[in-house]
Amino acid sequence: MDITSPFFHYLKQHQSTAIRHLHLTVMMLVLLEVLLSNIMHVNKQGEIGQSTLEYVGTWAHIVVGISLVFFGSLFIIVAFKQRGFKYYFPYLCNQWQPLKSDIKLLTQLTLPESKPYGISSCIQGLGLGALCLVYITGISWFISWNLNLTLAPNLLHWHKTLTGLVEAYLVGHGVMAIVHIYNPLKLKREVIN
Ligand code: HEM
Ligand code: HEM
Repeated sequence: MDITSPFFHYLKQHQSTAIRHLHLTVMMLVLLEVLLSNIMHVNKQGEIGQSTLEYVGTWAHIVVGISLVFFGSLFIIVAFKQRGFKYYFPYLCNQWQPLKSDIKLLTQLTLPESKPYGISSCIQGLGLGALCLVYITGISWFISWNLNLTLAPNLLHWHKTLTGLVEAYLVGHGVMAIVHIYNPLKLKREVIN
């Protein structure tokens, strides 16, 4: 069996074509950014690392980061247009019931199904927020660095700190998705059906 097919099958069932394509693009670009961040360096004076690897790595991170400003914003706009703000932030719209029942299921050690206004959509909303903060601080650093503003090192500090949120989200959301999709009981049921 091709191990990626349950993943794409699940995404097809849960997401519209536009969201699916944008989600896959953003997911791959974010993973690439995290990998590139290991071979890049900008010092306190704003100088890019001198070795060829660091130089190429830093510029690749910047170019991919700028493309994420575009694809990330498009993903957020399309997601909000198709699902609505309340889908991702129900607790800000006084919609607590699905979240409460999901938390109850978790306390009984049962994995809740993904549903509107539930715990998975709340976490996805927080992920979109984290993504937005990371690329906004990244691009703001890039603009102020080009303009030689004294603000630049501060923005870079915030960018580096906030990337922790996206990394935590990647691990949490990614692991939950894999556990959901590759749940042996669920896979067996789908094969039988
Ligand atoms: C969603 C998009 C982005 C992600 C996920 C991301 C991720 C990261 C990560 C994980 C780090 C390393 C943090 C650390 O050392 O603790 C980093 C550093 C950095 N990022 Fe980004 N980044 C993004 C967008 C951008 C953008 C748009 C720019 C600029 C155009 C940028 C410029 C930088 C710079 C200059 C550093 C500092 C490198 C160093 O000296 O260690 N990033 N980023
Ligand atoms: C920073 C990177 C990521 C972001 C910003 C992100 C964001 C999102 C968002 C907003 C949704 C909901 C879309 C909708 O309303 O239909 C979603 C769904 C999903 N994501 Fe991600 N994701 C990321 C990375 C990943 C990774 C690495 C995986 C898997 C390893 C993954 C697997 C899934 C799956 C299976 C769904 C469908 C779940 C459902 O509808 O309940 N995502 N993601």
